[in-house]
Amino acid sequence: MMRPMKLAGSQLLFGEGCLEHLKAISTQKASIVIGGSSMVKSGILDKVKEYLAEIGAETQVIEGVEPDPSFATVMRGAKEMQEFGPDLIIALGGGSVMDAAKTMWVYYEHPELDSLEALLPPNEFPKLREKAIFCCIPSTAGTASEVSRSVVISDTETGIKHGIGNMEMMPDIAICDPEVTRSMPPRITAETGMDALTHALEALASTRANYIGDVLATQAALDIMENLPKAYKDGNDMQVRETMLNASMAAGLAFTNVSLGIVHSMAHTLGSYFHTAHGLGDAMLLPYIIRFNSRDERAARIYKEFAQKAGGEDLAAMVDVLNKELNIPHAFKEIIPDEEKYMSILEEMAEMAKADGCTKTNPIIPTIEELKELFIKAYKGE
Ligand SMILES: [Fe+2]
Repeated sequence: MMRPMKLAGSQLLFGEGCLEHLKAISTQKASIVIGGSSMVKSGILDKVKEYLAEIGAETQVIEGVEPDPSFATVMRGAKEMQEFGPDLIIALGGGSVMDAAKTMWVYYEHPELDSLEALLPPNEFPKLREKAIFCCIPSTAGTASEVSRSVVISDTETGIKHGIGNMEMMPDIAICDPEVTRSMPPRITAETGMDALTHALEALASTRANYIGDVLATQAALDIMENLPKAYKDGNDMQVRETMLNASMAAGLAFTNVSLGIVHSMAHTLGSYFHTAHGLGDAMLLPYIIRFNSRDERAARIYKEFAQKAGGEDLAAMVDVLNKELNIPHAFKEIIPDEEKYMSILEEMAEMAKADGCTKTNPIIPTIEELKELFIKAYKGE
């Protein structure tokens, strides 16, 4: 049976200058969560604070969310929020910042919870919005956490990444202003952009794909294939930045409803064991998985129809060309030098990828043996 679609929270803003919408939000106290220093250096944090000051709101800045944010960081942020008492939480940054801030929000609303397990089944997901509403301002065009119901948080001790998804965590407000993404360096532009392309293509091939998801994902993927190389070469082209941010968001609207596939399952696994950046892992795995999934007749037809819309025939080969243009390596041996370790944990990696929530909607449910073979292929570049 079809699951109900939810296309973003209650307010979705996009296009140059939409950051100013902050002035239209009713708030007295806002916590702003950021990562490193990029939003400080680009002047965007000051702009956000200024807009909020104009409407008479007090602000608190919670700094230092690291890439692959840990549960410890989440609890630190939640504690800072409890001391300040915001009625609005703003995540200003990339996927890690948005995921960490969403999760801080949960523990801010529910100080009685003290473990990550509390959010995992069979526990019932806690209700939010008693104390604050939530706003995302993405600084990268890729993860689409601004319109997604999910977060990835790492266990503080083991580093294992936990993907948690619940519609409660859908941000109420998403403000997608391309100006905020201008300062993104080329490498991050390329990797996060390929994450967005993977969202779109996995949503198209998902066994839960539907009409609305396809409309969004198809146009998003076409726009990303055309604009990502341009954004990589010239980050100051605001028209291109805007298209990339809109396409990333549209791909997010699709995948958060119809889910993904094993590119994500395997990228999450490599992220857990080797700290491979999420978008980079996606980009490198994508052509291998398109070829693997093409054994399924339906998936092969979807890939072919999309490739033809994008002006080609063989989608995997087109992604190979795109990766080359973005200087993304072809084989994991180039970025994970410890081959012995990699090969010694194949079984564990295959099991983790198999158990990942994204595997359920892949066109083919792979066996442990098939996943091991895929990990080997992608390592050796075969
Ligand atoms: Fe992703």
